[in-house]
Amino acid sequence: MASVTVFMVAEKPSLAESISKILAPNGQYQTRKSYTPVHEYNGQFRNQNARFKFTSVTELSNRTCIQSHNNWDATDPLELFTAPTLKLEANSKQHITKHLQNESRGADYVVLWLDCDREGENICFEVIDNVINSMKEPQKTKENRILRAKFSAITHTDIRRAMDNLVYPNKNESLAVDARQELDLKIGCAFTRFQTRFFQGKYGNLDSAVISYGPCQTPTLSFCVSRHDQIQSFSPEPFWSLAVTVARKNNNDKDKEETLLHWKRERVFDRQIARIFENCVKEANEAIVISVKSERKTKSRPHALNTVELLKHGSSALGIGPHDMMSIAERLYMQGYISYPRTETTSYPKNFDINAVLRTQQAHGVWGSYASELLENGVHKPSGGVDVGDHPPITPMRKAEEGELSGDTWRVYSYVTRHFLGSISPDMRYIRTTAIIKINNEIFECSGSRVDRAGFTSILYSRTSSDTFIPEYKEGERLDITNVKLTEGQTHPPDYLTESEVIGLMEKHGIGTDASIPVHINNICQRNYVKVEGNARRLVPTNLEKIDPDLSLPTMRSDVEKQLNYIALGQAKFKDVLDHSLKLFSAKFKYFTEKIGEMDQLFEATFSVIAETGKIMSRCGKCRRYMKYIASRPQRLHCKTCDETYSLPQNGSIKPYKELKCPLDDFELVLFSTGSDGMGYQLCPYCYNYPPFENISKGMGCNKCTHPTCPQSMIRNTVCPCPQAEVTGCKGRLVLNATLSTQWNLCCNSCNLVSAFTDKLKAVSVTKDEYCDDCGSSILKIEFSKNQTREPLEGCILCDDEISSLLKTR
Ligand SMILES: *[C@@H]1O[C@H](CO)[C@@H](O)[C@H](O)[C@H]1NC(C)=O
Ligand SMILES: *[C@@H]1O[C@H](CO)[C@@H](O)[C@H](O)[C@H]1NC(C)=O
Ligand SMILES: *[C@@H]1O[C@H](CO)[C@@H](O)[C@H](O)[C@H]1NC(C)=O
Ligand SMILES: *[C@@H]1O[C@H](CO)[C@@H](O)[C@H](O)[C@H]1NC(C)=O
Ligand SMILES: *[C@@H]1O[C@H](CO)[C@@H](O)[C@H](O)[C@H]1NC(C)=O
Ligand SMILES: *[C@@H]1O[C@H](CO)[C@@H](O)[C@H](O)[C@H]1NC(C)=O
Repeated sequence: MASVTVFMVAEKPSLAESISKILAPNGQYQTRKSYTPVHEYNGQFRNQNARFKFTSVTELSNRTCIQSHNNWDATDPLELFTAPTLKLEANSKQHITKHLQNESRGADYVVLWLDCDREGENICFEVIDNVINSMKEPQKTKENRILRAKFSAITHTDIRRAMDNLVYPNKNESLAVDARQELDLKIGCAFTRFQTRFFQGKYGNLDSAVISYGPCQTPTLSFCVSRHDQIQSFSPEPFWSLAVTVARKNNNDKDKEETLLHWKRERVFDRQIARIFENCVKEANEAIVISVKSERKTKSRPHALNTVELLKHGSSALGIGPHDMMSIAERLYMQGYISYPRTETTSYPKNFDINAVLRTQQAHGVWGSYASELLENGVHKPSGGVDVGDHPPITPMRKAEEGELSGDTWRVYSYVTRHFLGSISPDMRYIRTTAIIKINNEIFECSGSRVDRAGFTSILYSRTSSDTFIPEYKEGERLDITNVKLTEGQTHPPDYLTESEVIGLMEKHGIGTDASIPVHINNICQRNYVKVEGNARRLVPTNLEKIDPDLSLPTMRSDVEKQLNYIALGQAKFKDVLDHSLKLFSAKFKYFTEKIGEMDQLFEATFSVIAETGKIMSRCGKCRRYMKYIASRPQRLHCKTCDETYSLPQNGSIKPYKELKCPLDDFELVLFSTGSDGMGYQLCPYCYNYPPFENISKGMGCNKCTHPTCPQSMIRNTVCPCPQAEVTGCKGRLVLNATLSTQWNLCCNSCNLVSAFTDKLKAVSVTKDEYCDDCGSSILKIEFSKNQTREPLEGCILCDDEISSLLKTR
């Protein structure tokens, strides 16, 4: 009998196995080992006999890379924004590609069971690319042969329902992911390269670590940094407050219990004024109760649980960071204990069977009776929330007792279940009583509360509040004042943000998705930009990073997120969004590179101590690696690879010089300059130590080099002997100095004579092999700036008046 082949793919091997178990008749299937296991069974598909083959991908996540821009030195980071991208084939990916191609050979149908989020949708299309040519002809050309399963939990109901309601993969959602990947890659890469290159030349011990910029992680960090700034700039103020205790009159001892009152004014910031109030209260004989009010209040049951709430609770109440929380939740999901843990939705969908979930918990050792009671008495309609249409809220799917799950896994499961039970329990009700008490015209207050009905807090412990009692005062009642004290305090700065607060802020500003928030937080921790401190898990910035606030403006990122959303919803074109965002970030990048100085200052402060360890300076001609500049006296260059040290001229600064190389030994030139008298010259670190010609000695720069053709050499740039020769006996030569392309001067290579040209010139050069007939000086060619509208001049600086008038000797 004819039979069709249905090839199915899940995101992880464990999922392929759990789903096969559910779908295979009687849970019976054969498993074959391959690159990832393949489960096979016979069954029915669209009223035909079918052979099912179910396998999975591992790490088949796209690696996009930027074409031919891997040479860091050759590429201007700005060009990265317009560079083409391509999909990189990692080694493991080639195996998985072969695996998919081989196993899908001759398939009639492909059913995609990748995770039901945008990333999953994106992987669907990658799988399709891999299998489409292996499918049976002509099936592959028919659209309805490649199908998508939509599911939210690994349960019989959910998986069966998905299988019976297969849809088509959504290209637009996948494109939104492609756009995000390309943006993140280009932005991250451009900023990282720029920053790394910028700082590498400056700070010795930063060179190994690539400083990286992530478009989401920087705004994340900026929340922590701006709180840090607030704390740093906070100046505490002293304040004074009145602490007054009262007791009921003439009653038995029990009623003599004192009650602390709360001053309506709270506090004052002036000591004198505080004293006046203190005296005023002390003068009074008694306190009078002016009013007593009781109010019924309610605390609403929580909305259904979504990812952000789970992460926040994990961090603040369970002490589990977002990254670990997600791995635990994902494990629980894959084992079928809870529904898909990545969702923004906080209300149960209309057709959600709450009672069915309750029944699975009825026999539970800890909260079974609570669940049963809810079933008997009827559940309370869940309160509001939003249905984003992605996945249902996070709910328990299957009962687990404490012994079945270990440590944190149990605590997470327990929270998810309690939250579910809480969300369908009655609200908590309490009564709040407030008494207003007057002492000589000063108003005080005391209040207490009493829980009337615990409602959801009896199952969701973390939300419980305890009772506070006050005596049952009557209006007009007179009380004894038992104590009056003036207390002094100080205002406190706000505390560092807790991880849970940062998660909340990211959600509020639309940075990242429920899936990526843990990743961003984890990144800033791993890169040591912030440290998680204490049980409250506060994120405290290390002083490594100070970022341009404008660049990291959270709104910019959320704007991009919105546009990516439009792609997914089919309301905007992939290319339009990508082009627009790339332009935006490219402009930001320009701004950033111009503003880098401010960031630099902070780095300077942090790394000043390590100047000694040497900063990266120029390349060694032997090994082509960068040499380190060692600033401690005597200043010198050290090549770590060749283990060679090169001495340098002292008492001046050393900088890389235009990345020019010495033609003799390939060492990159450096520029030596002294601040005070403006002397300086370029030199080759190797020639400076090992003179290349017999007629020059050790310790000489290019302005004394006799190389006949190197554009930097004395020979090519000498104009004439030093004019001071007759006066001081100087044996130097006047050499054209072109170290700055905006200023031209003639400098003696021996004494400190400098003859500078006016600033109206575009270029000055020594004409090769042409000398003045009268004095033998080299002929100079002088080109004027455009606005001077003068023809270029050629001549001798000593004999040609027009040229010598352009020079000023100092
Ligand atoms: C290719 O797939 C067939 C089954 O379709 C299997 O028997 C064989 O082992 C696979 N080959 C490789 C190299 O995995
Ligand atoms: C995908 O987006 C395009 C616009 O970019 C739209 O025309 C098309 O209908 C969308 N497709 C789906 C399946 O939503
Ligand atoms: C550099 O300056 C120090 C004092 O600041 C001086 O003792 C030393 O001789 C100078 N070295 C050279 C090479 O000029
Ligand atoms: C060459 O000119 C630059 C810029 O005007 C100056 O800093 C440097 O000291 C000059 N070189 C010499 C040898 O004077
Ligand atoms: C120095 O030596 C080089 C090469 O040996 C030679 O070309 C040059 O003319 C010599 N210069 C002087 C000033 O002796
Ligand atoms: C002419 O242009 C140069 C730059 O090319 C500028 O420095 C100079 O100030 C200008 N002079 C006048 C008179 O505009």
